[in-house]
Amino acid sequence: MLPAGLRPIASITMATYLITGANRGIGLEYCRQLQARGDTVVATCRTPSAELEGLGVRIEPGLEISSEAAIAALVERLGCLPLDGLIHNAGILESTSLDGLDLDSLRRQFEVNALGPLRLTRDLLGQLRPGSKLILMTSRMGSIADNSSGGSYGYRMSKVALCMAGKSLAIDLQPRGIAVALLHPGLVSTRMTNFHPQGITPEQAVRGLLERIDALSLATSGGFWHANGDELPW
Ligand SMILES: NC(=O)c1ccc[n+]([C@@H]2O[C@H](COP(=O)([O-])OP(=O)(O)OC[C@H]3O[C@@H](n4cnc5c(N)ncnc54)[C@H](OP(=O)(O)O)[C@@H]3O)[C@@H](O)[C@H]2O)c1
Repeated sequence: MLPAGLRPIASITMATYLITGANRGIGLEYCRQLQARGDTVVATCRTPSAELEGLGVRIEPGLEISSEAAIAALVERLGCLPLDGLIHNAGILESTSLDGLDLDSLRRQFEVNALGPLRLTRDLLGQLRPGSKLILMTSRMGSIADNSSGGSYGYRMSKVALCMAGKSLAIDLQPRGIAVALLHPGLVSTRMTNFHPQGITPEQAVRGLLERIDALSLATSGGFWHANGDELPW
């Protein structure tokens, strides 16, 4: 136990984090806050934004998360760069109701929200080491117990799949000393939510998310948390 006021060593030592979907929204804010506290950021995206370019962090463009080739090219460019944190943040939300069930949209959301992060994790395992943290940005909408409004088939189902992948990864990666967290950012005002007026800012969300990431350990690996620290039901 550390004396009050001291941060764990993992968070005061400069760490290297790779973030997906880093050009806007929550991903961009992760880059901003991690860089501001002295961590090294590898910002991956499909196309960089002016805001991301303005941060002066390392940018790895061209990462379409559903593309095996794009993932392979990224791994090649990273070489043997060790990663202390891998934050799977890229995601899509397409509304899919029962009446207008669009199976292509469901498949697309599975590819991006569930299969992409699992595939990228597999291909970046060589970069992770004991003490590294694997963060999966899921959603409360991927909680079966919390589903009281129905609908959103593609988003809900793909995030449930991501949660299950995260739970298995936590078990499989425990012997390698890699901790896994499934995190919900809260309702955040980003393009995904059409900049919802009741949403919190990405800045507020990421402050809470980084607290969860700093607190994550092998003992708590595999948990599903709200950015505010509440444990969420599966
Ligand atoms: N905002 C919320 O209230 C909320 C709530 C719960 C969970 N979340 C989760 O938090 C994460 C970030 O959400 P956000 O609110 O920041 O969303 P956002 O503003 O819509 O940003 C989504 C990010 O994902 C990237 N992306 C989308 N499809 C991609 C693909 N096929 N390949 C690579 N990158 C792709 C986007 O890049 P492009 O610019 O290239 O499209 C963008 O950088 C998501 O996983 C989301 O499900 C958000």
